[in-house]
Formats: sequence, C-alpha cells, structure tokens
Amino acid sequence: MLCVTAATGQLGRKVVDFLIQRVPASEIVVAVRNPSKAVDMAQRGIQVREADYDRPETLEKAFSGVSKLLLISSPAVGRRVEQHRNAIEAAKKMGVEVVIYTSVLHADRSRLGVIAEEHRKTEELLVDSGLNYTILRNGWYAENYAPIVKAAAAKGELVTSAGNGRISAAPRRDFAEAAAIVLTTDGHVGKIYELAGDEAFTMRDLASEISKLTGREISYREVSQEDYARWLIDVGFPEPFAHFLASIESAIAEDELYDESHQLSQLLGRPTTPWRQVVAEILRGEI
Ligand SMILES: NC(=O)c1ccc[n+]([C@@H]2O[C@H](COP(=O)([O-])OP(=O)(O)OC[C@H]3O[C@@H](n4cnc5c(N)ncnc54)[C@H](OP(=O)(O)O)[C@@H]3O)[C@@H](O)[C@H]2O)c1
Repeated sequence: MLCVTAATGQLGRKVVDFLIQRVPASEIVVAVRNPSKAVDMAQRGIQVREADYDRPETLEKAFSGVSKLLLISSPAVGRRVEQHRNAIEAAKKMGVEVVIYTSVLHADRSRLGVIAEEHRKTEELLVDSGLNYTILRNGWYAENYAPIVKAAAAKGELVTSAGNGRISAAPRRDFAEAAAIVLTTDGHVGKIYELAGDEAFTMRDLASEISKLTGREISYREVSQEDYARWLIDVGFPEPFAHFLASIESAIAEDELYDESHQLSQLLGRPTTPWRQVVAEILRGEI
C-alpha cells in the first residue's frame, strides 16, 4: 500500500491525482487530519484514514500495512519537528518500508531561518531512524507569488527586498508529479533530490513579465525588509505572515531559492512548467 499524509492539502491532492493515474485506487491510502475533507477520495476507491501529526495513536493506525509513505511536511511552522517525529516513529513502529519526506531546497545549508531548521532536523530524525528514506527537497511553489503578482498588477508596482536573488520556483503540480513518480518507481532509496524549476527568475523579471502580460507598466522598487513587510500588509497579507515573509527575503536575495541541478525535470522526464506560464495562469485567475 502507498500512503500519502496531508492529502487534503493543496500539494497532497495533486499527488493523489497523479498517483491514481499510475496505480489502482485500491493500493492507495490517504492519511488525513480530517477524513470528512476526503470524501471525494473515498468515492474514488481510495482508503481514507485519520492521521493527525499531533496524535501519535492515529498515526500508528493509519500506517498499518503501508509499504511506502509520503510524509508531506506539516504547515505548523514552529511545531513541525515534534509532529514529524511522531510520524517517523509511527512509521518505524508499523514496519513501513520507505518514508519519502518533502523537505526544502538545500535544507542542509539553507539560511531560510526556521523553515530550513525544521526541515534539517526532520531529515536528521529520518536518517537516524534507520528507516529507508528518500528526501524530496522541494523549492518554492510558484503559486506563492500569486498574491504578489495580483497586487503588482492592480497597483502598477512591484515592491521587493529580495534584490537580484534568483528563484527557481515550480508549480505544486510539478512537485506533486515527482512525488507520485518516486512513490511508484524503484531506485530512490537513500536519495536526496534537490527539486526546483529549470528556469529561475528575479523579482525584476517578474515585474517585466507582469507588464508584458497586462500591457500596464509595472514599476519595480527595491526597499528595506521593513518596508517590504509594510507593502505586504498594505496589499492584504496578515501582519505576522508579512513579517515572516519579509524576514526570509535577505536569504532569497542571496540565491537561497536558486538551483541549477535540473533534478526535478530529470525525475519528471520533461522540462518543468515555465514560471512565465504560471504568471499567466495567475493573471487569468486560474491560480
Ligand atoms: N515549497 C513551498 O513553497 C511551500 C510553501 C508552503 C508550504 N510548504 C510546505 O509544504 C506542505 C504542503 O503544502 P500545501 O500547499 O499542500 O499546504 P496546505 O494546502 O496548507 O496543506 C497542509 C496540509 O497539512 C495538513 N495538516 C495540518 N496540520 C496537520 C496535522 N496536525 N496533522 C496532519 N495533517 C495536518 C492539512 O490538513 P487539513 O486539510 O485538515 O487542514 C492540509 O492537508 C506544507 O504543509 C508546508 O510544510 C511548502
């Protein structure tokens, strides 16, 4: 049995969609915090089990009979190491053969603050557990820029404190397809994949692309971290999240989200979805 945790999330749902094209539904288990959100999956013949990272007893039941587990990282920044520890321990106890974990790009050396620290610690827990593992170090989701692209298009201005940092983003669907491939093919045990889009962009590139696609001149303004946080709040981001995003911009300015290894396209067997295509989808309201 193949199991996907957090399958009701935006990434998890896409993984399940790819998985069901590759294996019968009867071989898939989704381990989700809230099974009532996965009724559609049950209707497709997928087993739905309750699995809350905060409640180890649910995890053990959910992982029963599972051979390969995709552990999608929790969104609860600040509490994730404990939550992931619960999942890894339950997987070990239940005899899961391989755990595939969604980490962050270059987790071993990344300076993306708490994000990198939590992924780094989880990777260590997984390696030290003695379980077979594969680590998918996912780069930034291109969809993360949707609110920024929309705000820039509306205001005629893109504000940033990420300087000339290059961002090798790819849409969730690319990372999801790669995860489905790793779940359903052999040869991935012990591997650590750095997964990122083939072509990187800077925030200046992003502003030019929005100009091109909207036909409206989008001015580009580099500001301090504080002013960037203020701009994010201005365009509708919740205050704590705006400060959090602004706090990692200096790392992005230093290319922390840049990667040129093309391992994502190698896994997919095709080029990654171009970032310009994602920007167009955002501006058409599809994302
Ligand atoms: N690479 C990037 O750019 C990037 C950006 C953001 C996040 N991430 C990471 O990637 C993960 C997946 O991204 P996403 O876009 O799919 O996030 P998402 O849409 O926010 O989904 C998060 C999923 O985690 C589940 N979850 C939350 N708390 C849980 C708990 N205590 N136990 C079990 N499941 C729990 C949620 O369940 P419910 O459906 O019940 O709420 C949901 O299914 C995130 O959780 C985060 O770790 C990466």
